[in-house]
Amino acid sequence: MSEKDRILELRITINDHNYRYYILDDPIISDREYDILLRELEQLEKANPDLITADSPTQRIGTVPLSEFGQIRHTIPMQSLENAMNSEELIAFDKRIKKLLNTDDDIAYIAEPKLDGIGVELVYNDGYFSHGSTRGDGVTGEDITQNLKTINAIPLKLRETDKPMPKLLEIRGEVFISKKDFKTLNESQEKQDSKLFANPRNAASGSLRQLDSNITAGRPLSIFCYEPGAIQGVTFETHLDFLNSIKQWGIPVNQLSETVTGEGGIISYHEQLENRRNDLDYEIDGTVFKVNSYSLRESLGIRSRSPRWAIAGKFKAQQVTTIIENIEVQVGRTGAITPVARLKPVQVGGVTVTNSTLHNQDEIDRKDIRVGDTVLVERAGDVIPKIVKVISEKRPNDAARFTIPDNCPVCGHTIFRDEDEAVARCQNLSCPAQIKGRIEHFVSRNALDIEGLGEKLVDQLVEKKLLTTVDQIFQLKYDDIVNLERMADKSARNLLEAIGNAKRTTFARFVYGLGIRNVGEHLAKILEKQFSADVQKFMDSNTEDLESIFEIGPIVARGIAQFWDDADNRKVVKGCFANGVSFAPLATTNAKLIDKTFVFTGTLESLTRPKAKELVENLGGRASGSVSSKTDYLVAGPGAGSKLKKAKELGTKILTEQEFLTMIDELNQ
Ligand code: IVH
Repeated sequence: MSEKDRILELRITINDHNYRYYILDDPIISDREYDILLRELEQLEKANPDLITADSPTQRIGTVPLSEFGQIRHTIPMQSLENAMNSEELIAFDKRIKKLLNTDDDIAYIAEPKLDGIGVELVYNDGYFSHGSTRGDGVTGEDITQNLKTINAIPLKLRETDKPMPKLLEIRGEVFISKKDFKTLNESQEKQDSKLFANPRNAASGSLRQLDSNITAGRPLSIFCYEPGAIQGVTFETHLDFLNSIKQWGIPVNQLSETVTGEGGIISYHEQLENRRNDLDYEIDGTVFKVNSYSLRESLGIRSRSPRWAIAGKFKAQQVTTIIENIEVQVGRTGAITPVARLKPVQVGGVTVTNSTLHNQDEIDRKDIRVGDTVLVERAGDVIPKIVKVISEKRPNDAARFTIPDNCPVCGHTIFRDEDEAVARCQNLSCPAQIKGRIEHFVSRNALDIEGLGEKLVDQLVEKKLLTTVDQIFQLKYDDIVNLERMADKSARNLLEAIGNAKRTTFARFVYGLGIRNVGEHLAKILEKQFSADVQKFMDSNTEDLESIFEIGPIVARGIAQFWDDADNRKVVKGCFANGVSFAPLATTNAKLIDKTFVFTGTLESLTRPKAKELVENLGGRASGSVSSKTDYLVAGPGAGSKLKKAKELGTKILTEQEFLTMIDELNQ
């Protein structure tokens, strides 16, 4: 393509992006990408000055104002800032200033954060807020006076100070929404099923440009001011003087502004602020360095789009666009199935990003993420990159919807996804992606409690393929383990002995160790009672049988049924018995408290709460924390208060600690 054609192409592209950014409030490229396009156009035009036209985006300052608002012509045009993309360009700026001023002395600058919001102008007449506008095309902006008046941080009347009240005071600043308020705002948008804002800047822009200022009034807008426009009735020698004065008049000024000198001062301020960027509660996208002395500013002058006396130091982009090349599913150690987007590698916030988790199917559906999509990727505060949104305009025609497959990508077994749960899971006890985690859980203290079979050893046994299923634990031989790392004759013998001892266990420990979805220790004990410690009966139960058990709802029942639907799971369990696992008889066959709920309150004198709970559970009952119509007994010690009152109101049976102990004793007879 010839340089001329590229210039024409760039102009169309940039104008399109301007329209999307300023008018539609829906940019489809990051600021950084926009800057790069504009730079390229500037450079091509510089090399081909005869091709510059008055309507080129390089010749304009901003963009046309929205037509619905009245227009306000700025007394002094609101210019833009020249950008420095890196340290070298910041240093070059300082060198240029010194050259233009013909001095070797260090220059004093005011360093400020570059706030990522919406530039506005506020106009005060004799100390009273008169009107305000957006930047618009830099010459004319939208009249947003009514909306600005809803922002509490903007004083409607300036405070009196030692300085005379200026007859005219025009102040430029940035309206923004803090990160915290942005989060709350989007949460409430989500609740109301309204469109979510992509970032705080978009939210601020959308809020400020409401035609109904009642809507603006409900939005958490803030402002920091940083530059004068036209001023009458007072003069300022330096920018520091200006900032301090407006602060005293009650105008918000960013507290991170400070005086720095020379290139050293510039670079260190820039680096420090970039490091702190994510700790601030508002978005900034760079630094701004401005010559402090207003008389020096005068000598330096301005160019068509930006002043010579200031520069913006851009930070590394934290939001960039890239393409989703593929979506894969990963299986975690607990069987959780997580879809992951494989991205075309891209630099975000200084690191290369190639993957981003998509969390679950709901998240994919909500954001409508498809393979081939161009997406906006963010790597802010947290280090983990996330996909902010899909740029739907860039979606290729053949981009297909993605659905998590029905089968586990690692073992091929059916994936279980309950309607009420976001996360899909593979429940195969022997899934290679989970086997280490499954074994660790199976041998853990509250399950089979095999001492000596720790994480490192499990890793080695799985990697050497000595363990591919949990029942193989009971087939391990001395020769298999003695030569493993950190093992020797004695430790190998001890481990085999621990495995041998663990074969004699209980139904509850064994079932808990299987890691069935939602079956924790408590439920395992209930199942033990219900199925009289008969695993075959448990395996053969259907969802109806399970749901008839007090404490088991449809979700838990479906999880259990799905676990037993898997023939391999049944095989592994049978394998355990074939290898010698057996259950001790139930501690008590007395299940007289089945379905009975106890609540303990006040001080128990001879029992701890966990002990009291255990006594109830051993008899098939359950202990709960709060009194309801389902409570059968309240055991009340001294100091009982609201729970006792409620139990009395409900007519619940109330026991003293002694009465409770007697009851347990009798039931255990
Ligand atoms: S001074 C002539 N100071 O950046 C200089 N601008 O790219 C006028 N901005 O339109 C601007 N923080 O909306 C200045 N501390 C700061 C700023 C700042 C953010 C915005 C502002 C301006 C744009 C220029």
